[in-house]
Parts: sequence; C-alpha cells; structure tokens
Amino acid sequence: MNYELSPIGTIHTPYRKYAPYQPVETEKEDFFVEVKEEYAEGLKALEKFRYIYLLFYMDRQKKPVSMTVEPPWADGLEVGLFASRSPVRPNPIGLSIVQLLRIEGNRLYTSGLDALDGTPLLDIKPYIRELDSKDNANYGWLDDLEDREHLMLHIRGIPHE
Ligand SMILES: C[S@@+](CC[C@H](N)C(=O)[O-])C[C@H]1O[C@@H](n2cnc3c(N)ncnc32)[C@H](O)[C@@H]1O
Repeated sequence: MNYELSPIGTIHTPYRKYAPYQPVETEKEDFFVEVKEEYAEGLKALEKFRYIYLLFYMDRQKKPVSMTVEPPWADGLEVGLFASRSPVRPNPIGLSIVQLLRIEGNRLYTSGLDALDGTPLLDIKPYIRELDSKDNANYGWLDDLEDREHLMLHIRGIPHE
C-alpha cells in the first residue's frame, strides 16, 4: 500500500548544494520554515516551546538505497541503514530537533538546520522535556569507536583541531 503526503510548508536555509550532517545549533545565519497559510492556525501556542521537531522530505536524494552504510568519520565501519542517520533511505524523511527562536505570522525562525534550502516540510511537533529525553540513552555502535568524542564533533559541526 502507498500513502500520499503533502508538505505543510517549506524549509529555508543558506544551504543550496551541501548541508551539514546534523543541525549546527551555533550557526548564525537565518533559518526559518514557512508554514502554508491554511495550516497557520495550527501554530497556536507553539511559541511556548523552546525546542521543536521538524520532519522533512529530502526531495533531492537520488542515490541508490543500500541496507548497509559506512557512516562518515567512523573509520570504514559498516552498520545497517536503520542503525544510521544516513539521508539515503527508502523513505527519505529527515528528523531534526531545533531551537524555536520566534514566530512571525506563519514563519518559524529556528536555530541551524541540516536541510537544503527549499526542502518540503512534512510536520512540526513540540519537543517536550521528560517525554522526549531519556536519561539512560547511550551511543549505540558509536560507543565501540575509539574516538567517539572526536566523531561527535564532526557530526555536530563543531570546529576543532
Ligand atoms: C544526515 S541527514 C540528517 C537529517 C536529520 N537530522 C535526521 O537525522 O534524520 C542530513 C543530510 O541530508 C541531506 N539533505 C538535506 N536536505 C536534503 C534534501 N532536500 N534533499 C536531499 N538531501 C538532503 C544533506 O546532505 C544533509 O547533510
């Protein structure tokens, strides 16, 4: 069975060809999502939340999907696609947590995002303390890497030596 999804808006970022691997929270340029007029009423009370989830469709993804991937910066380690955050997936849906800076009409200004400019926005959900953070979360296969902390700097786009 196939299901049809229609974007609820569009993501705007400074990234035309390349985007970071995960959102870079310290990025200073303008990032905003524009929600279609017909859904604007659905934003009521969203401004009360500091963080939100954005779900988006990675519409320019054309690479062949493989069930195993070698995550970047992981020294050639091979893991299953679903144990990774690779954008090359059967359903190329991206999920990012961003800080909600302000809402102006149907525009949501956010902290840095990892989507290309013009990416279709599928959904917005509030990030709720306790409900959405797990104190005992681990790093999965990243725990087995010798240099996990260094890898995390790359993934998070934090400049380092
Ligand atoms: C690794 S994915 C992570 C997305 C999300 N944070 C997640 O974990 O689901 C981020 C990458 O997706 C790619 N990307 C972003 N927007 C895209 C789009 N509209 N079409 C194709 N690829 C896109 C960029 O290469 C970016 O580096």
